Formats: sequence, C-alpha cells, structure tokens
Amino acid sequence: MLDDRKVLFSGMQATGNLTLGNYLGALKNWVKLSDDYLCFYSVVDMHSITVRQDPATLRKRARALMILYIAAGIDPEKAVIYFQSHVSAHAELAWILDCYTYMGEMNRMTQFKDKSAKHADNINVGLFAYPVLMAADILLYQTDLVPVGIDQMQHLEICRDIAMRFNNIYGPTFTIPEAYIGKVGAKIMSLQDPLKKMSKSDENPNASIYLMDDPDTIRRKFKRAVTDSEACIAYRDEQPGIKNLLDIYCACTGTGTADAVKAFEGRGYGELKEAVGESVVAVLEPLQKRCAELTKEKDYIDGIIKANAEKAAYFASKTLRKVHRKIGFPDRIR
Ligand code: TRP
Repeated sequence: MLDDRKVLFSGMQATGNLTLGNYLGALKNWVKLSDDYLCFYSVVDMHSITVRQDPATLRKRARALMILYIAAGIDPEKAVIYFQSHVSAHAELAWILDCYTYMGEMNRMTQFKDKSAKHADNINVGLFAYPVLMAADILLYQTDLVPVGIDQMQHLEICRDIAMRFNNIYGPTFTIPEAYIGKVGAKIMSLQDPLKKMSKSDENPNASIYLMDDPDTIRRKFKRAVTDSEACIAYRDEQPGIKNLLDIYCACTGTGTADAVKAFEGRGYGELKEAVGESVVAVLEPLQKRCAELTKEKDYIDGIIKANAEKAAYFASKTLRKVHRKIGFPDRIR
C-alpha cells in the first residue's frame, strides 16, 4: 500500500481497434474503481511490440488510447495514467524477474502457445517473456488488486508465483496481488457468434462494435446480429444472442436485467435490436465527441502525459531500489 488506499493496476494495449467489449467490460469500470483505489492504468506499448507494429500507427494508437482513458472519465489527477515505455523501471524489473522465472513456466502459458501459432514467423523472446513484463508492471506498484478478464488469469497467477518466489528468497519485497473480482464489467460477446467473446482481432467486422464506429454502422451491425429462432425475448443461456443483446442494453442504459426483459416482453427481435443499437449510439457518440475534442487539446494532453509518467516513475523507482538492494546490486553513489 502506497498511501491509505489499496493499489489497483491494469493495462491495455493500443493495438487493434478497441471494441464496445473493451469499453463496457473494462474501461467503464476503471472509472468507478478510481474512486476507491489508488489506480495505475497503463497504455502497455512495450507489450505491443511482441508482435510487429507499424511505428506511426502504434504511436498514433497509443496516444488515442490515452485520450480515450480520459474521455471515458478517468480523472488524470486521481488515477495515474501513463505510457509503459515512459517508465524505464518496467524494463529494468522485467529483466531482473526474468532471472527468477523458469523456461518451463513460460512454455506452459496458453497465450504464448496461441500467439506463437498465429505469428509463427516471429516467435521472439519478448513474446515468450511477455508474462514477466506483465508481472513487473504489477509488482512495481506494490499492487493489491488487478482487474483482469479470464484470459489474463494465468498471467496473474504466474505473477503471484514469481513474487512469492522472490519474497521467499529475499524476505518481503513485493505485495502479492490478487485478482479483482467484484462487479467487473459485462462480458460482451461477438454479434456474429455469441458464444465467442467480442474481440478486436475478429476477422469479421460485423462481429464487433468498434468504439469509433459511426452511428449508422452501429445500427447496421445490430440489425445483422445473430439471434435464434425461438422468437421469445428471455435472458437464458440457451439464447446466447438475445442474452448478449440484453447485456449490452443493460450495460449501456443502466437497466437491471429483469426490468429489461420485462420491457421487451412480447416484442420482436427487430425491435430489441433497434433499441440496443440506439442505447449503444447514445453511449458511444458522446464518447467519440469527447475524444475528438481532447485530441485537439494538445498541450493539455501533453501535460497529463508528462505529469503522470513522473508520478508513476516515482512509485516504481521505490520498488526497484528495494529490489536492487535485496539482490545485491552496488549502492548508487549520490
Ligand atoms: N496483457 C494484458 C492484456 O493484453 C495487458 C496488460 C499488460 C496488463 N500488463 C498488465 C493487464 C498488467 C493487467 C495488469 O490484456
């Protein structure tokens, strides 16, 4: 704990087009969490280069993601939002932790297996060590809580293992982080295959609502959303398409599930799709407008980027110094 609040850390990559799932499932809740915790939200650009990136695109998207954090309502005075690459302690601690992580552990990571199958021409050491960098992200800030989706659980587990191993050798050094499972965001599924999570890397553009989709595109994608032939609006696992539409509607309007089901009782799927589309437009249109406005405020954004990188570096350097002492690196001469 760095002050009297518990510390919460999360990060997002600026690769691909962020989807409604990223917003409703993560970002929207990050805003609320920053009322109760000391939050560090990083744009994890160092993780992004484990897959080849076009430099101009990466730079543009990383900044756009930072702006999106602010547009979504994260108060940059309260939460620490920063680019991972601006705080060199991440790379430094990652190297040290590499030396306390076994090849066998990394070999078992399902994301590594998936990604090396997908990028068979570029299975680089960074991709292999990705979970160690993620562990460094988390451990640098003496993080108590990490809100992560199920797909990142294995990475959080390995982070805990590395931290406990280090603490066992050198005495208490790192806080052992836990998964934040509270009211995490809604899990938004693909509009074309509601058994699959909505993903920014989906090949079918109709499967995902991108945060920057214009209103007509949003409406069209909902019109085409896959449902079923039950012709009945109910909230149940047997109707994953309808369930997903109701989830999206509830997340966007703040309606409870039971109330939403009642509101659509006896109505057709067409009407439901239209209402859901409108509820999404009502959320995304103002968000897009705020992003556009903030994008023009270059000096303001630059100021936030600078101040928050310094804040993050301050906290991170405290942990890094402690680690250096524990492992026997010579004291710095000041
Ligand atoms: N690997 C995470 C993802 O792709 C992003 C991430 C990097 C992260 N470092 C983190 C998430 C630390 C939580 C905590 O979603």
